Amino acid sequence: MTLVLIGFMGAGKSTVARLLTADYQDLDKVITDKIGMPIATYFEQFGEQKFRQIEQESLLDCLDNTNTAVIATGGGIVESAENLKILANENEVVYLKADFECLFERIRSDKLNVRPLAQQGQQLLLERYESRKNKYEAVADLILDVRQNTPEVLARKIKDWQEPKKRLKER
Ligand code: S3P
Repeated sequence: MTLVLIGFMGAGKSTVARLLTADYQDLDKVITDKIGMPIATYFEQFGEQKFRQIEQESLLDCLDNTNTAVIATGGGIVESAENLKILANENEVVYLKADFECLFERIRSDKLNVRPLAQQGQQLLLERYESRKNKYEAVADLILDVRQNTPEVLARKIKDWQEPKKRLKER
């Protein structure tokens, strides 16, 4: 079973994935390895739609790989109806939730990760957030508030939540 972390940009999906296990895949990293360039450059050259195709292929590849215990998705994974169906069939989808103000602040202060959609200004980013938030909630099996918990606590809570299901499987 693969645990899938979802949530808007800045929610801390990659950080939590790293704390959960060494056997995690960061979808953005999988995509960057595939396309051989930064995501921002790819968006500029080929557009968002093409990126979404590669994102979906990469999600399916990671889900197929039995060595992958955790996948940290990109914030836009819920943009495609097909991805929503794929995620609805997974039963360990964890939504790292935060309000827009918190996420915007995190995105703004993250100088390492250049996110193409964050270059378009606060209003457009807010529109993305608004259009996605119900989708994250709809496919999530567990919702955790990132503002009230450190990444370490989030990882602990996820492990505790997984535990009874693991025991059931072992029976
Ligand atoms: C995107 C989020 C990014 C990355 C790409 C598009 C989005 O990932 O996949 O820039 O549409 O929200 P993070 O959520 O890891 O920043």
